[in-house]
Amino acid sequence: MGRLIVISNRVAVPNVDQAQAGGLAVALNDALSTYGGLWLGWSGQTVEGATTLPHIVTKGNVAYALLDLTPEDYAEYYNGFANRTLWPLFHYRLDMAEFDRVNYQTYLKVNTFFATALLSLLQPDDIIWVHDYHLIPLGQELRRLGVTQRIGLFMHTPFPALEIMLTLPSHARLVQSMSAYDVVGFQTINDLRSFLDYVTQEANGKVETDGTVFMGKRTVRAAVFAIGLDAESMATEAVHSFHTPSVQRLQRTLHGRALLIGVDRLDYSKGIPERLRAYARFLERHPSFRKKVTFLQISPVSRGDVPEYRRLRRTLEQEAGRINGQYGEPDWVPVRYVSKGYKRATLAGYYRTASVAVITPLRDGMNLVAKEFVVAQNADSPGVLVLSRFAGAAHELDAALLVNPYDVDDVADAMARALSMPLEERIARWNQMHKIITTNTLSHWCENFLTVLRGDESVVSA
Ligand code: F6P
Repeated sequence: MGRLIVISNRVAVPNVDQAQAGGLAVALNDALSTYGGLWLGWSGQTVEGATTLPHIVTKGNVAYALLDLTPEDYAEYYNGFANRTLWPLFHYRLDMAEFDRVNYQTYLKVNTFFATALLSLLQPDDIIWVHDYHLIPLGQELRRLGVTQRIGLFMHTPFPALEIMLTLPSHARLVQSMSAYDVVGFQTINDLRSFLDYVTQEANGKVETDGTVFMGKRTVRAAVFAIGLDAESMATEAVHSFHTPSVQRLQRTLHGRALLIGVDRLDYSKGIPERLRAYARFLERHPSFRKKVTFLQISPVSRGDVPEYRRLRRTLEQEAGRINGQYGEPDWVPVRYVSKGYKRATLAGYYRTASVAVITPLRDGMNLVAKEFVVAQNADSPGVLVLSRFAGAAHELDAALLVNPYDVDDVADAMARALSMPLEERIARWNQMHKIITTNTLSHWCENFLTVLRGDESVVSA
């Protein structure tokens, strides 16, 4: 079997980026060590006059090829087109999307740069797996350079509905470039439908019932591959971490109060200010819970050079301060807000300590924290998941308390319901979710995608 080549914007070399909260890094490292191969992407460094010659770091059977970007590339490709255009657009935040042609040109240039860097590292029987919105045109660039190996793209973010996509000035070229892939994977059926709508209504393409898409002269398999977890290791970490000093310190400081927890990268798509407002509404409408609960919001800072993210940080600090000022007592702080990242193991222990997780993104590709929370629970007395219906995870985890994150009353009432839920119902809901998460694991996700990418199998159903 050929090597697996993974390409993504960010490369997480093991033992370097342990504290980061994102699910993608953990997922891809697990996949690569299973199959062996190469992971190419941005080094995280900016250097004047960066070249297409990567720094190579080898760990076991995986090589990491790290490319520097110039400061202009970082500003225009990463902060610019990827994170101020595609990110808000793909998360339905047209109000935040900025359309700048220079940024778009640099985005295309960096995609060409990545493709050129990969070319000399490729072997004939490699298969190439490209990840996410930063690198959508990469497949087309590789084809232009003569690459004939099979190439797949997996979109970790949502793929927006047609009417949203049409607001992107470069939508035609961007979506057309997806025809260079052999396989295009999405997190949910809604994302797949949005793509197929675009293909049939805008790109003059055709779609067969088995997910085969005809776009121009190319044939692409488009399908749903909902990303999963290494559920077993997460569950083991949670049991172990529950008794570690840092997790026990948290438990002691609760003084018997029920813990509600939210863990998200600091991102406006995660609906964190809305969630805190819902918590305030919960305290207002359910006064019997005052002094009996603590809300811990962990939001490691991300994309701090993008102005919208800096503003969000200020908003959150104000919101947490407002709630603590309004409802707090000398012996009770209703909200604990921390903006640093924690190791996965520590988070696992926090999840197991919590009675309720409030995961309420306004829009999310999947949200692996929701799945992590579930597997970290004690089966005899599991906590309750309050989950946004707009997270990809809601498609599988419909036994969670599904809420509309824009509706503060709905989320506030779900918090009260979660805290009052009888043990029997908690166990029934948890069992249902646990079964799904432990069946569709990370390795299943990889195997499913790679099986289709290798062309061995017909498209795996959603
Ligand atoms: O799909 C979105 C995503 O790539 C996640 O997988 C990841 O957690 C996050 O964005 C990382 O963002 P950044 O690399 O900009 O910090």
